[in-house]
Amino acid sequence: MTETLAQRRVLLVIGGGIAAYKALDLIRRLRERGASVCPVLTAGAQEFVTPLAAAALAGERAHTDLFDRASEAEIGHIKLARQADAVVVAPATANLMARMAGGHAADLATTVLLATTLPILIAPAMNVQMWAHPATRRNRAVLEGDGVRIVGPNAGRMAEPESGPGRMAEPNEIADALERMLGQQAGDRPLAGRRVLVTSGPTHEPIDPVRYIANRSSGRQGHAIAAAAAAAGAAVTLVSGPVALPDPPGVAVVRVETARQMLEAVEAALPADIAVFAAAVADWRPEQEAGSKKIKKDGTGPAPMPLVENPDILATIARLPVGRPPLVVGFAAETDTVVEHARAKIARKGCDLIVANDVSAEGGVMGGADNTVHLIRRDGAVETWPRLGKEEVARRLVAHVAALLAG
Ligand code: CTP
Repeated sequence: MTETLAQRRVLLVIGGGIAAYKALDLIRRLRERGASVCPVLTAGAQEFVTPLAAAALAGERAHTDLFDRASEAEIGHIKLARQADAVVVAPATANLMARMAGGHAADLATTVLLATTLPILIAPAMNVQMWAHPATRRNRAVLEGDGVRIVGPNAGRMAEPESGPGRMAEPNEIADALERMLGQQAGDRPLAGRRVLVTSGPTHEPIDPVRYIANRSSGRQGHAIAAAAAAAGAAVTLVSGPVALPDPPGVAVVRVETARQMLEAVEAALPADIAVFAAAVADWRPEQEAGSKKIKKDGTGPAPMPLVENPDILATIARLPVGRPPLVVGFAAETDTVVEHARAKIARKGCDLIVANDVSAEGGVMGGADNTVHLIRRDGAVETWPRLGKEEVARRLVAHVAALLAG
């Protein structure tokens, strides 16, 4: 892992927040991994840490002023913006994010950020309310749309009594995120030029205007797969049922509610090279279409609610006579005899690969952060992965399908 930062040069913009002290530690961590660091401090940053401390840790001078005679003569801010492999902004305060999103160039830090064409990684750090504020959310979306990568913030205790997301990611997490970003930059994009379709989340099947049938899927696994496929260079369409997750960066998201809408959106998103069906589609819906009126109780007990089966989206696409994606991947949520059930499912649905996960209550997979999966191929071969975070499952799955498609 340390390979990617060896010989790399990082322009580190330190913003003005209490987390600036952690930026000093970040300089040490980056240098430990073999990178050289050129620090740039905003005026605010200098209220918390001195240029001298940053320079001492970096082993080179720290830059602070837009009109700095010495450095203008030597290199100038435009060169500063070019002579590196990446820019890291840590801490990225709400103010700095707003100025970046607005394209301001009022001081050295923002001028460099506007002038650079290098990949940018920001580590936000701010008060919980500031992070949650719609203005910051807008700025974040703008920055993500501009291709800026974001690491953190983490939830936890901060300088103020409140707690929640706002704490800057730890220096080692920032260094890891930078390695990932540079790794991708270096051409680690096995799905470049490919189209990937992913379904995610539950579906909601309305009973009446206020009630629906649903399930416990959070969409985390499907969303992580869409994000990993995009990071691997694919053009990704994510068809998502109702979830409480942010849209993954760089992914076209189509939001739907019901299974039938999901099928329609999937068909509209074809053609694709790879289709991954990670959604937990409701198997049944009420036979009676939901009207505009709420069903009232009348004292005689609930009226019977006949259900009809929803279309099987995976099977429909896997069995398309024309336009079937070359690689169709299904998921199987099982509570017992996981592999046997999944083998039967692969045959029944006609897909190429099934990712079977054990969703028995003890595992806490539904809605949880981890997943233990078995990969089952059409020829019956099984690969079992250890318990992993859903993001890591996504990365491995993307690497696996990219290799299958290439081979
Ligand atoms: N799936 C789908 N459309 C449906 C039902 C399921 O596309 N109407 C897809 C899921 O996205 C998943 C796979 O089919 O990729 C398996 O879903 P699962 O619910 O585990 O299997 P079922 O076919 O419902 O079988 P069973 O309920 O017997 O486990």
